[in-house]
Amino acid sequence: MKDSFGRTIDYLRLSVTDLCNYRCTYCMPEEGVCKRAHAEILSIEALYEIAAAAVRCGVKKIRLTGGEPLVRRGILELCRMLRQIPGLETLAMTTNAGLLAPMARELKDAGVDRLNISLDTLDAARFAAITRRGRLADALAGLDAAKAAGFTNTKINAVLIGGVNEDDIAPLAALTKCESISVRFIELMPMGECAHWPAGRFLPADAVLRTLPDLAYVDNDGVAERYRLPGAIGTVGLIRPMSCKFCSRCSRLRVTADGKLKPCLHSGEEISLRGLHGKALEAAILDAAQKKPAAHTLGLREPSHAARDMNEIGG
Ligand code: 5AD
Ligand code: SF4
Repeated sequence: MKDSFGRTIDYLRLSVTDLCNYRCTYCMPEEGVCKRAHAEILSIEALYEIAAAAVRCGVKKIRLTGGEPLVRRGILELCRMLRQIPGLETLAMTTNAGLLAPMARELKDAGVDRLNISLDTLDAARFAAITRRGRLADALAGLDAAKAAGFTNTKINAVLIGGVNEDDIAPLAALTKCESISVRFIELMPMGECAHWPAGRFLPADAVLRTLPDLAYVDNDGVAERYRLPGAIGTVGLIRPMSCKFCSRCSRLRVTADGKLKPCLHSGEEISLRGLHGKALEAAILDAAQKKPAAHTLGLREPSHAARDMNEIGG
């Protein structure tokens, strides 16, 4: 499907829960989010119906997000159902990997093609401080289990936090030396918990290029500029939602765990999909594609208009 600016929209990010086993400082308050009434969250069947309608509208790739998708009951069943949708080319998932180790093989068997793992640091104490609840060892075990289960092209996403994890740039990038993984550094966006953090925490991705002057430019894959360390197998990516917008290449729609379709991550516009089926569901999805703005207005002095936090949208 095309939007009103001629962009091809073929990528759906589907949030399956707003809950998370972690409480990352930039994403969630310490006490967590109040659990939405069970009835507000889409059922597995409703998630499947939305996904199938989106694929009929032209979506080729679906990414399951959260909160943390692995805390959602029925997630494996959902993956198996989505995998049966004719025309779906790629089923991916973004996870913090804390619960991945015991589930990696089942996810692979359920038809998940690719994983993005959120990992902001390789320092155990810092990991505990950023996530407030997580243990680095669990995430690393999850990463190993994913490899053992046969996942390839796994991506590691690290949010850059000024004054917190600059020291992790070199060790995280070094993970690409011997394996075909890509490590992508993401600029922190002022949303939710971190919307009013001091400017120094919002580190431009250029910090990565300064820290690693040996990085050689490879290409631009749509959202990430890719680089390679000398002799490395994998790549280092920079994702710059703040300093360099990629809106002109945006191909996505997002659905929140409570069934609202968001044409853009940062706009307040939401289209409720609840109770819609068949052709009406397809029409709502096509309508949302038409409502995609040309670009977001996010900036340091211009917080997100999303009126929701990342744990509800899933990045
Ligand atoms: N800015 C950038 N990335 C964020 N994430 C969560 N909150 C933010 C933010 N404010 C990331 C998580 C995860 C993905 C789902 O989104 O670290 O990698
Ligand atoms: Fe959970 Fe991801 Fe938010 Fe961290 S950033 S609290 S892992 S949803």
